[in-house]
Amino acid sequence: MSVIKDMKVSIKRIPQSRISQVDFNNLPFGRVFADHMLVCDYKNGAWGAPEIMPYGKFEIFPCITALHYGQAIFEGMKAFKNQDGDAWLFRPEENFKRMNLSAWRMCMPEITHEIFIDGLKELVRLDSNWIPTQEGASLYVRPHMFGTDEYVGIKPSDNYRFVIFSCPVGAYYPEPVGLWATRKYVRANEGGTGEAKAAGNYAASLLGAREARDRGLNNVMWLDGHDHAYIEECGTMNMFFVINGTVVTPNLSGTILHGITRDSVLTLLEDHGIPVEVRRVSMAEIKEAFANGTLEEAFGAGTAATIAHVDRIGFEDEPHMILPKIEDRKISNMLLRELADIRTGRIEDKHNWMVKI
Ligand code: COI
Repeated sequence: MSVIKDMKVSIKRIPQSRISQVDFNNLPFGRVFADHMLVCDYKNGAWGAPEIMPYGKFEIFPCITALHYGQAIFEGMKAFKNQDGDAWLFRPEENFKRMNLSAWRMCMPEITHEIFIDGLKELVRLDSNWIPTQEGASLYVRPHMFGTDEYVGIKPSDNYRFVIFSCPVGAYYPEPVGLWATRKYVRANEGGTGEAKAAGNYAASLLGAREARDRGLNNVMWLDGHDHAYIEECGTMNMFFVINGTVVTPNLSGTILHGITRDSVLTLLEDHGIPVEVRRVSMAEIKEAFANGTLEEAFGAGTAATIAHVDRIGFEDEPHMILPKIEDRKISNMLLRELADIRTGRIEDKHNWMVKI
């Protein structure tokens, strides 16, 4: 039993760590799981005591509300080790706030700071030897919550489970990505759930992503659901374009995820005095910039994706636009390097983004 502030967390350790079975030099994203997980249940209008236990299966009934009606939300964040071997989380308070924004939108109870932040620290501390130190690798931490009522019918669940597990990961996109924009499918609409990190948003994106892959690209670059003209996000990351030296990124319109990496990128760009425009950006503008040679860079920013270079953009059945060479991209390469340097303590963390565990 461990006590964080006034909260009791019971800890049942794994009898034998699985870490020796893991090749840290070859980490596929999201397939390898660290030794422990945190589980906490909500019933009778209150959260119970969190428990840390060996990562593994748990039993649920087939009728639970999350499985049928989609009350399921999640977060993604990363832990790193600095040069001295200390473990740090990148901006976990932002994940805590966004988790509760998603909870509000999906009629789920707020998670408390103690369970989310203190529980998270306790869990990552226990599994801190799972934090990879290879360049570009990290421990990806996945808090999530889902409705567990045994009930067939549409209403907010009365019972919930909150879980955190973690995975040592390498790059989500090991290579530059190709994106496809289309008017055929829509990710989110005004008044919908687009800015919540809700599981259903990701399910809704799968068909478009499959079609993008059939076209030789990696994913969809979603357009708005009203005019089908303005770029929203990619589903795995927020979008940025460098047009004639100015960074342009879609504004948070209510249908776009409030990306924590997006926010960090905007701050770093400001630090460097690089001109930024946060506004609506249309596919027509991107096509025109490509045609007149002013589309210098395109990249995505996300927790899993970090900074992902975009090397091809397709629109409907038109030929793919092939973007400038990755090595010539000053801004996205600077952001990638600087974020990695802050996270591993190689440069000063001026904005106090890193939280020691
Ligand atoms: C994240 O970036 O944390 C996400 O949840 C997106 C997913 C591609 C893993």
